[in-house]
Amino acid sequence: MNHNQNRREFLAAGASLAAVAAFDALGAPIYGAIDADSKPAILGGDAPEYDSGPAWPFFAGDEVERLTEVFESRRWNRGDESSPTVVFENDFAEMLGSKFGLAVSSGTTALQTALSALDVGPGDEVIVTPYTYVASVNCILESYALPVFADVDFDTYQLDAKQAEKRINENTQALLPVHIGGAPANMDAFLKLGKKRDLPVVEDACQAVMGEWKGKKLGTLGTLGCFSMQITKNLCGGEGGVVLTDDEFLAYKVLDAHTHGFLPHAGTPLDEYRPVRASNYRMTGFQGAILSAQLPHIAEHADVRNENALYLSSLLRDIPGVYPQKIYDGGRSAWHLYMFRIDEREFGLSRDVFVQALLEEGISCMSGYQSCDWTGYVRKSLDTRAGRRVYSKERLDEWEEATSLPNFHKLAKETVWLFQTQLLAPKSNMEVIADAVRRIRKYAPEIKKALAK
Ligand SMILES: Cc1ncc(COP(=O)(O)O)c(C=O)c1O
Repeated sequence: MNHNQNRREFLAAGASLAAVAAFDALGAPIYGAIDADSKPAILGGDAPEYDSGPAWPFFAGDEVERLTEVFESRRWNRGDESSPTVVFENDFAEMLGSKFGLAVSSGTTALQTALSALDVGPGDEVIVTPYTYVASVNCILESYALPVFADVDFDTYQLDAKQAEKRINENTQALLPVHIGGAPANMDAFLKLGKKRDLPVVEDACQAVMGEWKGKKLGTLGTLGCFSMQITKNLCGGEGGVVLTDDEFLAYKVLDAHTHGFLPHAGTPLDEYRPVRASNYRMTGFQGAILSAQLPHIAEHADVRNENALYLSSLLRDIPGVYPQKIYDGGRSAWHLYMFRIDEREFGLSRDVFVQALLEEGISCMSGYQSCDWTGYVRKSLDTRAGRRVYSKERLDEWEEATSLPNFHKLAKETVWLFQTQLLAPKSNMEVIADAVRRIRKYAPEIKKALAK
């Protein structure tokens, strides 16, 4: 996208591209000048014309000016109430509808800070999804707590609250649903479960800036919400994170945990520090300045992505063997990822061959999180002097025995990801994607044969 365009111009550009799509003799559309019957590129056919969306991170336009201001002010750190970092965290919290916001150095440290504020520590358990980035698990391990995996709901990819409930015991200290892909976990179910079992709900909203649940922004519904502003994210500061909460006590606890007990000065007597298990996870003024420049654009981007993603789903859903990620009723995804499943029996090709074929069409995609041995990973991480002191072999055996993740393993073998930037391209490109998928399916037997040679 040309970022000097406003939203209306941006969408209109997409619409006019769609209008010039060619039609074959029978009136069927030929997207990107490729006949709907023609061979896919993996068999030697032509790849379609395809716009994969804007370069990322995008430039809002005033970043350099804002960065220069920080540079010249010599306030390169978090700074006081008027600093770009504090202004950003307050603006972000207000925009999403939360009482308190704290900017931190990354999504991982946002999660660590949140768990630290809840006093999660060695021997405690936190229930988490297996279909996620490793940071959702490492933030638990970092304080020698035990990640407890519950299976996902097959259609939505989200941690299943019923499965999570089965894994609650006297050691459980928090529920950690991840809004994967930017789409909501079932927040009604998690909030109900948290209330019923008196457990805090920490939302890993690292992929979900501007996602929604029944009109409220993701990351504002649970006890604490954590966001990432890492380079690929929908709101990007290079690195960065935010913790949101409506609870004033927890707001102070996250503030303390991220900066050694609330910004004490070098000469402060030790007995005046608030005694917390804390670190330095502060966001710099430079990150705050970039994020403040990007913030005004995220609502518009979220609308464009949502419009394109829903259109793409409507096209892909008609292709046998292709199953787009379902969004719970009342939810709206931030569309950090566009995920769909390829059912090999119905489609005629395995997910991995499909990904290869789609890449040949010039359409960026990947297979995403892999089926993996999470319990083995955790066991290895805890196989240290300190880990062995906290967890007996018997406890880990029992925990591993209770871990059953069939939906996760199946999804991880069948899923394809497209990226958020592709959903910022003009709308006609959704048709190019769907048409390529259709052509690949049509030629599945030939592709199989050609690859077997
Ligand atoms: C679901 C999820 N949780 C946590 C993180 C960690 O965020 P960061 O990379 O900013 O530390 C990420 C980022 O990739 C993520 O996707």
